Amino acid sequence: MLVFGIESSCDETSAGVLRDGRHVLSHVVSTQIKAHQVYGGVVPEMASRLHVHHLVPVLEAARENAGIAWADIDALAFAEGPGLMGSLGVGVAAAKAMSAYLSVPMIGVNHIEGHIYSNLLEQVDDFRYPVLVLVASGGHTQLILMREPFSYELLGNTLDDAIGEAFDKSARTLGLGYPGGPIIDDYAKRGNAKTHKFPHVRTERDLDFSFSGLKTAVLRYNQELGISELPKDDSRVADFCASLQDKLISELTKKTFIAAERYNVKQIVIAGGVSANSTLREQIKLAPSGILVSMPPLKYCTDNGVMIAAAGTARLLAGQTTSLDVVPNPSLRLVGQGVTPPS
Ligand code: KG4
Ligand code: ZN
Repeated sequence: MLVFGIESSCDETSAGVLRDGRHVLSHVVSTQIKAHQVYGGVVPEMASRLHVHHLVPVLEAARENAGIAWADIDALAFAEGPGLMGSLGVGVAAAKAMSAYLSVPMIGVNHIEGHIYSNLLEQVDDFRYPVLVLVASGGHTQLILMREPFSYELLGNTLDDAIGEAFDKSARTLGLGYPGGPIIDDYAKRGNAKTHKFPHVRTERDLDFSFSGLKTAVLRYNQELGISELPKDDSRVADFCASLQDKLISELTKKTFIAAERYNVKQIVIAGGVSANSTLREQIKLAPSGILVSMPPLKYCTDNGVMIAAAGTARLLAGQTTSLDVVPNPSLRLVGQGVTPPS
């Protein structure tokens, strides 16, 4: 089964071709990072215009790199939401036009579900249920329990910023540029994580997250130490980034491990752009013994079309399709109601 995946929910225009939900035949990403960099974050109106500009060449490159003809495609998968309305609209319109022209079914995919299914790309094994998902992206920080395919129960959520936002805002405070996650990760690799201590984070429910206190701590440290004024190759910049990254990531892993034991899961998967983080990829391996830990291949961690094709394939195989009157949904939800902890 050949599924063509389209992703345009934020600032990456991406498409890819996937065989049987696992084998990547092509993976094309055109990022808008440079265009938004000057503004320190994504400018929605500009993002949708750039998607319009880049989409057709990206679609064509994905087909060509896969070595297939348009007529070979069995179905189209596209990101239906959540994301930016204008950006999503470009991918949705393209999917509708292609579906109608090629006479193939299409399937709308929740962007977060795409991130989760990126864990199956180039892998042999399926998920081992119950699965605990740590969603760590620019817009989401959630612990989700999957007891079976397409069943998502919310165990914990961020009370304020998403983890990716915490990275991005901290990098902005420190004068390091955008997007902050990969930049801080890079500095952190050269620094000593034991240099700075950060305040303890308290949340009423132990599986929720909060990053606003750490954001304030970064501001305070910067006022005291003038990190944003230092030359970028000063070892104090790297030491600060290493300490901050260690704290941010350990907030994620600490709660993931509590949830994994509480809900007796067989597998932990990480999903979303922050799953590219080197400290997270190391720390998550220290999960309680007996639990399989998986992570997406590095190149499929941030937004891309093949992850949308992966989740789309699973839904198509379950008999689902989306009708041509679909509209993008910027606040599409994945999870149902929260669950009661086991007694
Ligand atoms: O999933 P994603 O590509 O877009 C959303 O759906 O939000 O995630 C983007 C986020 C950004 O906040 C970016 O700074 C962060 O992922 N990110 C990272 C790393 N690579 C990307 N954060 C920490 N370490 C990284 N290596
Ligand atoms: Zn994403």
